[in-house]
Amino acid sequence: MGINSFFTKEIAIDLGTANTIILFNDKIVVDEPSIIAIEKNTKQIKAVGKKALMMYGKTHDNILTIRPLKDGVIADFQSTEMMLKEFIKMTGVRGRIFPPALKMVICIPSGITEVEERAVRDSAEQAGAKEVKMIYEPMAAAIGIGLDVLSPNGNMIIDIGGGTSEVAVLALGGVVTRKSSKTAGDEFNENIIDYMRKKHNIAIGEPTAEQVKIHVGAAIESLDNPPDDYEVLGRDLVECIPKSVKVNYQEIAAALDHSISEIESCIISALENTPPESSADIYRNGIYIAGGGALLRGLDKRISKLTKLPVHIADNPLKAVARGTGIALKNFDKYDFLIS
Ligand SMILES: Nc1ncnc2c1ncn2[C@@H]1O[C@H](COP(=O)(O)OP(=O)(O)O)[C@@H](O)[C@H]1O
Ligand SMILES: [Mg+2]
Repeated sequence: MGINSFFTKEIAIDLGTANTIILFNDKIVVDEPSIIAIEKNTKQIKAVGKKALMMYGKTHDNILTIRPLKDGVIADFQSTEMMLKEFIKMTGVRGRIFPPALKMVICIPSGITEVEERAVRDSAEQAGAKEVKMIYEPMAAAIGIGLDVLSPNGNMIIDIGGGTSEVAVLALGGVVTRKSSKTAGDEFNENIIDYMRKKHNIAIGEPTAEQVKIHVGAAIESLDNPPDDYEVLGRDLVECIPKSVKVNYQEIAAALDHSISEIESCIISALENTPPESSADIYRNGIYIAGGGALLRGLDKRISKLTKLPVHIADNPLKAVARGTGIALKNFDKYDFLIS
């Protein structure tokens, strides 16, 4: 440990539309939903992360819960900044008496504009960063999966997060082709809410839809290992009283079908726009999926059927991007694709 590391601490941040993960010394020190709760009158922060999530959908008029990156774009710079600062505080790496300078790599959605990128950078600097570089999400995912992104060998990565799905072909440390869509985990939840309303006459909130997706979410209607049916609680739309309904995975697969087709169109379009030499690489290597959406039952099978290619799900897909961002941090000066 050099004298420098006493004054400078290094952290890697996966600033996701749904979840933010911060790594310090190869360990996850923050893993929180990207949500902030603010008191409207005073503009004071009431809570961030899990605590703010618990308030989501249950707040009264004076408390506002915001997901600042909801659609992969920064809807609200000020709340993004507040959230990022609070998460960095939560790491405890800065201490109180003599706060060290921070060196950071931050992973951002690749659809982000230059202005938004600037806003993230400013927020990080406000929070104590002296040196900041950014990395685009599919690149971080590929590194986290263990692919050699510097080699000429092309790889296709699909990252399905909360607000965006990104499909990218990477080679030689760069992006060969990229497609992104706003159809991702949040949209799946919306589909489930709509389905429950139309089919079962029951109103449910987003947290319940999320649980339905986790318990019986699927991309195909014939799974080898089907999950048990799931009991959904909500409000009856006719009688307006609490009610419960059991749903099975096949219903949810049907409800998600349209959204998954949109992601499939993105994949096809990315494949169509891939130069032939990279296509040959993808034929040999198959396709990799990361992000929380990779956990949807049968999605690998469905994409494999569509593309006639092998599809690999990243180990612990919710953490792949953070892992890759951590590796990028260690290669701060070596990876020239990092955005400074
Ligand atoms: N078991 C699961 N099945 C399907 N989707 C899931 C599962 N677990 C988490 N997700 C979804 O993954 C998304 C979050 O993934 P993540 O990669 O953290 O997104 P982001 O990078 O946008 O923050 C959320 O929409 C969440 O609902
Ligand atoms: Mg992500």
